[in-house]
Amino acid sequence: MTGNAPNNEQWAELEMAARLAARQAYVPYSKFAVGAAILDGAGKIHIGCNVENASYGLTNCAERTAVYAARANHGIQDVLAVCIYTPTPTPTPPCGACRQVLNEFGPAMRVRAICDGEDLIDTTLEVLLPGAFGPKNLKNAS
Ligand code: THU
Repeated sequence: MTGNAPNNEQWAELEMAARLAARQAYVPYSKFAVGAAILDGAGKIHIGCNVENASYGLTNCAERTAVYAARANHGIQDVLAVCIYTPTPTPTPPCGACRQVLNEFGPAMRVRAICDGEDLIDTTLEVLLPGAFGPKNLKNAS
């Protein structure tokens, strides 16, 4: 495992930010609110929520919203950690599409999912997306 893990204070801030982000979720269809907070390599936190769409398929998950907003607004280069919050009894892991998008900026990132119950997911993206395709695979293109 490589990369810097957040310290306890940073995890606490990430958890708080993810909880707040979930309040912005636009979920008229699923009613399943998700908040995400990411920690960038400069120590800044960025948030995202899921934003659903009447077409259903164009729904954007909280984790991807966080990554895209952080890149668009702050030009982030690296993501060290992501925290996902759902107001559910059990924690929610990131979906496959979000794992791939997270991998772009932080293949070694820590992943934590929290909820309103006691359960916690505390893992890494390498565990959730083993053998990932990413920027490294495009390095040798001619
Ligand atoms: N969702 C997320 O925001 N993140 C995930 O990783 C899993 C799913 C959202 C998408 C949709 O708005 C709702 O949860 C139900 O799938």
